[in-house]
Amino acid sequence: MPTRCEKPTEVVNAINNLSEDAFMDRFLPNGERRSHFKDKDKRDWVIDFVPVQSLTPYDFTQCFELVENMERAYRASSMGWSRKGKKEEMGLQHMRYLLVTKDGLTQREDALEWREKQRTNQRWRERPLLLEEPVHRMYDLFDDAIHGMLSFMITVEDNLPVLYIYEVHMSRLARGTGIGSHLMRMVEGIAKEAGLAKTMLTSFTKELWTVDTYRHLGYLEDEYSPAPRELRGKVVKPDYIIMSKTMAAG
Ligand SMILES: CC(C)(COP(=O)(O)OP(=O)(O)OC[C@H]1O[C@@H](n2cnc3c(N)ncnc32)[C@H](O)[C@@H]1OP(=O)(O)O)[C@@H](O)C(=O)NCCC(=O)NCCS
Repeated sequence: MPTRCEKPTEVVNAINNLSEDAFMDRFLPNGERRSHFKDKDKRDWVIDFVPVQSLTPYDFTQCFELVENMERAYRASSMGWSRKGKKEEMGLQHMRYLLVTKDGLTQREDALEWREKQRTNQRWRERPLLLEEPVHRMYDLFDDAIHGMLSFMITVEDNLPVLYIYEVHMSRLARGTGIGSHLMRMVEGIAKEAGLAKTMLTSFTKELWTVDTYRHLGYLEDEYSPAPRELRGKVVKPDYIIMSKTMAAG
């Protein structure tokens, strides 16, 4: 178990105040924003590191739609679902993203405009739905669609400097072939390099397979995860669990 850190806020602020370039230099392999990954189906993917300030509205929307696929799970839980609340959380000042695409993000203005035109094009909208997701991701039709995302923030939890994984989602096309665990390993590398005490995440307990997946990746129930409580003579288990993986002595 990590020991308490003397000045966790200073540690975290020092990292969060780094410029984008300085953060990449210190914590990403070879200081590079972009890396490549071959999945279990031998498909090539590009992974880009993007701090929230550099995320285009277009890419933010795509990330939001990946998260929105969890709407039902949120609604069924004590957390509830708020589009506005989730967007605010995803836009928090120190949120950082790893984004998975086939060919890398295209940030050029003319590309953004072109895609926006395609998006609102009537003929396009009449195309049949390709995916069975609760929310159809129209973006999957584009070559530069975001097929996976992990968002994280370096923050203080229970007096420890930690890396909190806020979201990790793959599109249906990218799921189950090793990208999710690769993204998790990438941020664990950042946490180790930064000398943080642990990586953390929250998972719904009703989606038991995700809890099992995180266990498989070395995550355990965190000591501050809410405990079952007694309500009118019945033991009620919380519908979410906080999980963590120790990185350093803290
Ligand atoms: C959860 C999610 C992010 C995982 O990403 P992924 O790319 O599909 O996961 P991976 O293919 O890397 O698999 C993760 C690891 O867990 C293992 N795993 C998968 N299902 C498992 C299960 N039921 N029990 C134990 N381990 C499991 C895999 O074998 C793999 O380990 P390995 O690399 O040693 O073989 C992705 O499936 C997803 O987006 N799901 C829908 C959204 C979601 O549930 N998000 C999480 C919100 S809490």
